[in-house]
Amino acid sequence: MEKEIKISFHVIPSYKDLDETEKKLFDAAKAVRENAYANYSNFLVGCALLLDNGEIVTGSNQENAAYPSGLCAERTTIYWTSANFPKAQITKMFVIGAPRNMLSSQPIPPCGACRQSILEYEAKQDQPIEIYFASLEGEIFKTKSVRDLLPFSFDSSFL
Ligand code: THU
Repeated sequence: MEKEIKISFHVIPSYKDLDETEKKLFDAAKAVRENAYANYSNFLVGCALLLDNGEIVTGSNQENAAYPSGLCAERTTIYWTSANFPKAQITKMFVIGAPRNMLSSQPIPPCGACRQSILEYEAKQDQPIEIYFASLEGEIFKTKSVRDLLPFSFDSSFL
């Protein structure tokens, strides 16, 4: 028997089609991307989270000579947020990624490990996080929850 899982995402044609809040988040993620410590991959990623109190929290990828010790922008940002604002609800996440010194228009989705981490915080706050991902220009993809990026997810309900 073959079964199907439906996932859905929204395509926003370009930056100019974002609302004011979304533009602020895009700008914040793009600006903090410049702080990425990505001397090994030269792939720079910025992340901006919107909290329910209106605050924007940002972070970038941080690499290491021992490669697996580095951390993606999404986890850098979401861990810092939970550490410092443990009660805050995260409503939106923006991710902007592109190679250094290259204008790319291919949306950069969160990696598998980041999806798993984002899922943990959706569960913690019992509220989905809207995820927007993009490159420096071009289309912006949006999902209503990380569940649309991670079908068959493993969470605490199995433990
Ligand atoms: N990277 C992120 O920061 N987020 C992702 O979701 C994809 C990958 C970083 C990790 C590493 O520093 C560089 O991009 C190349 O993989």
